[in-house]
Amino acid sequence: MENIRTVAGICRSNGIPFFLDACRFAENAYFIKKRERGYADVPMKTIVREMFSYADGATMSAKKDALVNMGGFLALNDDVLAMRARNLLIITEGFPTYGGLAGRDLEAIAQGLEEVLDENYLHYRLRSVEYLGERLVAAGVPILRPPGGHAIYLNARKFLPHVLPQEFPGQSLVVELYRTGGIRSVEIGSVMFGRNDSRGVFVPSRMELVRLAIPRRVYTQSHIDYVIEVVLEVFGRRESMKGYRIVEEPPMLRHFTAKFAPLG
Ligand SMILES: Cc1ncc(COP(=O)(O)O)c(C=O)c1O
Repeated sequence: MENIRTVAGICRSNGIPFFLDACRFAENAYFIKKRERGYADVPMKTIVREMFSYADGATMSAKKDALVNMGGFLALNDDVLAMRARNLLIITEGFPTYGGLAGRDLEAIAQGLEEVLDENYLHYRLRSVEYLGERLVAAGVPILRPPGGHAIYLNARKFLPHVLPQEFPGQSLVVELYRTGGIRSVEIGSVMFGRNDSRGVFVPSRMELVRLAIPRRVYTQSHIDYVIEVVLEVFGRRESMKGYRIVEEPPMLRHFTAKFAPLG
């Protein structure tokens, strides 16, 4: 909360509107309750209301903390801006009362926003991610610490120190997790953020990460144990793993659609 308050203050004093990417609002609110002094006994709804009170608006991907399969929304305090957004919505997506979604989906979002603040749900959610992190750390697997609420980030640079950034260590790990155990993860490293500068020199991403995002309300502990087993199996033979090269990429946002080939 202190972080939100500080950033909101900086934005306000510089005349910049402050928007929350609110899609993990409930997980973050629960971290505030668990970790931040003075919030242990504050009800979840009160914490969430305080978070949003500092913002001028929010974007929400409802697939996350609204617990639904699809949809989202834009929230704005500025009525004039809201009117312009609403008019744009009508000509692009659909009428405001159904927000470009089926009415059923809007009702599911409303229900999800209620259910997501259940502390038993949030405890199970954050604890299962933390458990995955603990077990990987205990086995020496390099991850970002402390674990967040929705994912474990493997540190591919440390996992595969022999694979150069321009050989995409994160991508190599993503492929191996899928081939070994059918685990789908995502590279957040030099495939996503690396680039060639004006002289054609490769500039790597600051970090080479692999995100294991955990779907909510899907996995039991035995699923998480399976993920641990697969990561450890791959970790055991990391020295034999090789990098990848890009064989096809679009001009923008290559991480979504690029094609790769293994290096020999
Ligand atoms: C914080 C955050 N914002 C936005 C998104 C993207 O949401 P969408 O796929 O609905 O665009 C994600 C996806 O994981 C996310 O974690």
